[in-house]
Amino acid sequence: MNKNSVYIETYGCQMNFADTELVMGILKTQGYELAKQIEDANIILLNTCSIRDNAEQKIYSRLEHLRGIKRRKSGTVIGILGCMAERLRKNLIEEKKVVDLVVGPDEYRRLPEFIDTAFSGEKGIGVKLSRTETYDDINPYREDGLSAFISVMRGCDKFCTYCVVPFTRGRERSRSLNSITDEINNLSARGFKEVTLLGQNVNSYNDGGNDFADLLAASAKIDKQMRIRFTTSHPQDLSGKLLNTIAEHDNICNYIHLPVQSGSNRILELMNRTYTIEHYLKLIDQARAIIPGVSFSTDIIAGFPTETEDDHKMTLDVMRKVRYDGAYMFKYSAREKTKAYEMADDITDEIKGRRLNEIIDLQHEVSYEINQSMIGKEEVLLVEGNSKKSDEFLAGRTDTNKMVVFPKAEGISEGDYVKVKISRATSGTLFGDVI
Ligand code: 5AD
Ligand code: SF4
Repeated sequence: MNKNSVYIETYGCQMNFADTELVMGILKTQGYELAKQIEDANIILLNTCSIRDNAEQKIYSRLEHLRGIKRRKSGTVIGILGCMAERLRKNLIEEKKVVDLVVGPDEYRRLPEFIDTAFSGEKGIGVKLSRTETYDDINPYREDGLSAFISVMRGCDKFCTYCVVPFTRGRERSRSLNSITDEINNLSARGFKEVTLLGQNVNSYNDGGNDFADLLAASAKIDKQMRIRFTTSHPQDLSGKLLNTIAEHDNICNYIHLPVQSGSNRILELMNRTYTIEHYLKLIDQARAIIPGVSFSTDIIAGFPTETEDDHKMTLDVMRKVRYDGAYMFKYSAREKTKAYEMADDITDEIKGRRLNEIIDLQHEVSYEINQSMIGKEEVLLVEGNSKKSDEFLAGRTDTNKMVVFPKAEGISEGDYVKVKISRATSGTLFGDVI
């Protein structure tokens, strides 16, 4: 009997959270225990993110804390998984003596072997990327719940010039449609009510015979009571067929995360985004015509190399035109190996910060207006549980991914669909009453 007990902390994107479930699936099958508390574990793994420098800094300070744990409990193995493992490889071990194990995203199958190496006193290092690994046959470990993430493809071939992902996660590859629909079937039987299909670039899913629209349609047919979400979409691959598929199925959510990154064509070209703003706006119009009421969120980067005040204004302008329901907004962070790393990071941190704040303020304004305009409307929610702030209230999300808080009512609990009327709104939350 294997007495090893593992504790995993996950940082970064939803892909990483899905990968942690894969890793737990792999380790559990090999007899490892999954510790609920860090104190109970003799193996501590951090599944890390490299997307921006501040993501990595967070891990470094966490490692300093873990150094203390290791000092108190010698024999504890500390490992780095995910994108930082892939990016920094054995440098990570040389620089941070506390690390015993470095395993990149395509080597998780061999994790038990690397853990054994680490226990034998050597360093366990597995950082090969693969063109074929999809973990298709691995059963991820998931607690019972409402909502699950399923990674349907791995890697990215787009090579946006700012982005480290093609280097940390390698080439694009898709799982087979059947293995994904089997997984959804099982989740449905276990009572899950929502799945999110994940990929760095989910629209370019292709398993040979089926594209992403086919996968969405097949997923939606499994259980009409199950909501299907997906992320992230690239404007280049958002086809008419895909938009029609979303429109045709009630349980495919009317919500598209469609990163724009910048409003300036000059910057978009330097970013190698492969579309113009005119094309992007046309896509948004087309989606709104095909899917009435569709909501959009986006990603925006402030202060890409050479960005002028005019370029920045064009970003604000596109935000006003699209009126996103939500946005993830970042300061540009230069990443080694990327094309943009070769350009001077010439926008000062102060200017990046000021531009970012303008972007954030505008988004708040727009979100507030959109949410205010929803007052009086009726929405169907999937109830997720108690609201964060009070046990007297429940919270659930609309099809368009908006959180709504409402007073508890007899007979309504987690996992139910309820109809509410919106009564009040802030920029981040809607409030309503059950009808
Ligand atoms: N600097 C800042 N933001 C970045 N993103 C990706 N790489 C960088 C970088 N080097 C943002 C993009 C992407 C999101 C996941 O993170 O907006 O869509
Ligand atoms: Fe971070 Fe990108 Fe890796 Fe996700 S894939 S963990 S966002 S670097």
